[in-house]
Amino acid sequence: MSVTEAEVRAALARVVDPSRGTDIVSAGMLGGVSLTGSEVRVILEVDPAKGRAMEPVAKAAEAAVAALPGVTKASVMLTAHSDTPTAPAAPPNLRGAGHGHSHSHGGGAPGEPLRQAAKPQSGPIEGVDRILAIGSGKGGVGKSTVSANLAVALAAEGRRVGLLDADVYGPSQPRMLGISGRPSSPDGQTILPLRNHGVTLMSIGLLTPEDKATIWRGPMLMGALQQMLRQVAWGRLDVLVVDLPPGTGDVQLTLSQKAEVTGAVVVSTPQDIALLDAKKALDMFEKTNTPVVGMIENMSTFVCPCCGEETQIFGHGGARAEAERIGAPFLGEVPLDIDVRLSGDSGVPVVAAKPQSPQALRFREIARKLIGTGHA
Ligand SMILES: Nc1ncnc2c1ncn2[C@@H]1O[C@H](COP(=O)(O)OP(=O)(O)O)[C@@H](O)[C@H]1O
Ligand SMILES: [Mg+2]
Repeated sequence: MSVTEAEVRAALARVVDPSRGTDIVSAGMLGGVSLTGSEVRVILEVDPAKGRAMEPVAKAAEAAVAALPGVTKASVMLTAHSDTPTAPAAPPNLRGAGHGHSHSHGGGAPGEPLRQAAKPQSGPIEGVDRILAIGSGKGGVGKSTVSANLAVALAAEGRRVGLLDADVYGPSQPRMLGISGRPSSPDGQTILPLRNHGVTLMSIGLLTPEDKATIWRGPMLMGALQQMLRQVAWGRLDVLVVDLPPGTGDVQLTLSQKAEVTGAVVVSTPQDIALLDAKKALDMFEKTNTPVVGMIENMSTFVCPCCGEETQIFGHGGARAEAERIGAPFLGEVPLDIDVRLSGDSGVPVVAAKPQSPQALRFREIARKLIGTGHA
């Protein structure tokens, strides 16, 4: 049974903000609720001045939502609420990269100087030949897993590869690529990315503590995304793989406006319902003039590790059919496999952990197809 937005709101209505003595919903703090299957994300708008004091409230809200039946993951984000109309997005000050908490609370507050990047704000990124976005309409279909493995597979083919974790709401690449620590910024202008498995990574997850709610309003997150595109010393890259958040929102729009995305890959599971969402993603890429260079069916079939029997848990072949329908290349099927999950969760993608396994070979084949067509 999946949870409904009404149930989430009802649970939040039982969480009291002690500083006001009213519950957070009546206090008008609820900025949004988004559900992707059993994962719930809640945005609470708070007065930047009270940011730190609100963290226990955020924790309580998270616990209240997590306790609902049908919820596997609840995250609450605090964004700075301001009573004045939104000014042009003030990018959060990433200059403090490497120096602790500079950006966490109330950045971009009135009076704070707006730091202008010296580099151009749109068009191609210097030194980066291609940008390949990995998208899907829905969360949990394996975009991040595919992005990480594809990036490592492309590097194994000799490509110079960067990975931009554009899921600013729920970054997962630091964990998937086994990268921790904070990127440094010796000149206070450019951020030096970190590297593992032959892949250069930038993620907002490297700048914020994993277990802390961060106070960034939407426009500030988009500012952070732009900085991660343009103020990172990517070096010379054949391809920058971009791991998108689920859906068709701000990040996708910002990316298409602020960079020249040369191609998009849509990941779907074979389920009809996921495919329906994949169609939305396809539609969005069309609207933003981003060529869809292929589709991947993830969690395609399950091969029993004990008896070898193949089970089509989510059905099979839907993504291939959809690719044919829209005339996009079908890049391949990735099976549902315990090694794919375990290696992803442990920081060594399966392509690096078991390069000769059938699962790794699938990713490597997809990487070679993308190189062959000039998209990576
Ligand atoms: N082919 C697969 N086999 C097994 N587990 C997978 C596979 N693809 C993804 N997963 C697991 O499913 C979960 C969601 O995947 P993730 O890549 O984070 O999805 P998304 O980025 O689309 O939200 C993760 O725990 C991941 O390890
Ligand atoms: Mg993801």
